[in-house]
Amino acid sequence: MKTEVMEGLRDVIVANTSICIIDGVEGSLRYRGIDVGEFARHSTYAETAYLLWFGELPTQAQLEKLQNRLVAERELDWGVRKVIQALPKTLQPMEALRTVVSVLPSSDPQANDYHYAANIEKAIRMTAKFPTIVAYYQRHLDDLEFVPPNPELSHAANFLYMLHGQEPTPLEAETMNQTLVLMAEHDFNASTFAARVTASTLSDMYSAITTAVGTLKGPLHGGANQRTMEMMLKIGALENVETYITQELEAKRRIPGFGHRVYRKMADPRAAYFAEKLQALCKEAGDMHWYNMAVKTAQFVGEAKGLYPNVDYFCGPLLYTLGIPMELFTPIFAISRIAGWAAHMIEQYEDNQLLRPLSRYTGELVKEYVPIDARRGTPNPFFGE
Ligand SMILES: CC(C)(COP(=O)(O)OP(=O)(O)OC[C@H]1O[C@@H](n2cnc3c(N)ncnc32)[C@H](O)[C@@H]1OP(=O)(O)O)[C@@H](O)C(=O)NCCC(=O)NCCS
Repeated sequence: MKTEVMEGLRDVIVANTSICIIDGVEGSLRYRGIDVGEFARHSTYAETAYLLWFGELPTQAQLEKLQNRLVAERELDWGVRKVIQALPKTLQPMEALRTVVSVLPSSDPQANDYHYAANIEKAIRMTAKFPTIVAYYQRHLDDLEFVPPNPELSHAANFLYMLHGQEPTPLEAETMNQTLVLMAEHDFNASTFAARVTASTLSDMYSAITTAVGTLKGPLHGGANQRTMEMMLKIGALENVETYITQELEAKRRIPGFGHRVYRKMADPRAAYFAEKLQALCKEAGDMHWYNMAVKTAQFVGEAKGLYPNVDYFCGPLLYTLGIPMELFTPIFAISRIAGWAAHMIEQYEDNQLLRPLSRYTGELVKEYVPIDARRGTPNPFFGE
């Protein structure tokens, strides 16, 4: 029997997949073999989702069919809208999203059907509805009326429209599209793996995606984009970068937006595309402050610690420049990653194996059960003892 512990599942291969390949040494990411840069430059989120789910790039007619289905599924049912309106405003948007995903099967007759076509249907439904859930919850928080989806707008532009109540500029829409495309899929990252574990028990896709949303929320995973911007705001000015980062590193605190489990020797390939778009947005706004801050901080962290920016790093200031509230940064990651999660669910159900690892027990091997009257008792600090 194996006794070696692979801490953090580092470098452990747990399954086969044909959805995406990452090369951490070369610093490359390919969706179904195609370089992610091609998607950043030429593609739309709907086309990316098509490729991830069906394994091939669509023809124009196929893409239109999927786009039409996504548009048709955007609106939430009356009952789901009521749930959003009833949510206490103390819930963070990621908690709200996690809660509302749990309610979606209420109107899906195929919720517990694991066949391929039913899984594609669920992929379409959730991908179409995630932006609506996030935008509606933010409108609820702000005491504003919901703005229904606009079928004339793309997936990315429609999200900004439902959130802000006005159509985005072409650059804003393009930036949101690129954000969604770049974060759509990333192999067996923590949230995808967590979702696959849930699906591997043959629980339903909504339960698996709820697991994924809860996992993405963590600051070591999707929560990092919000923390990146919070850090930039704390630093405030270019002349404070060195002092702030030095203090953080001396205190052995992690700098959000840096480091990666897979890209160890090279930068995360997605970071450069986010940096480019941040620069363009700042130029359009006539204020380069956040771009300059992000570049200077990245340079200093690189020199001081040898760490590269990851996908979340430039994404934080980019979404901030788009006028998006910081609590929505991680939900936007979810709005994008739902395409990848769904692709993994489809793959997992097609060739299922229960995912169930072992652990090495480090507790006492044999211990006597002492009757309650005979126990001497150990002080319990939780109860102030
Ligand atoms: C992503 C992350 C969790 C990967 O963790 P990991 O693969 O377990 O890497 P490790 O924890 O083994 O880190 C290796 C070394 O780099 C350091 N390190 C890694 N990321 C760091 C960061 N963001 N800031 C400062 N130091 C960092 C660790 O302290 C460790 O240093 P040590 O060997 O001197 O102790 C980690 O880099 C991190 O916490 N980053 C910040 C959060 C973030 O941006 N997450 C989004 C990821 S897309």
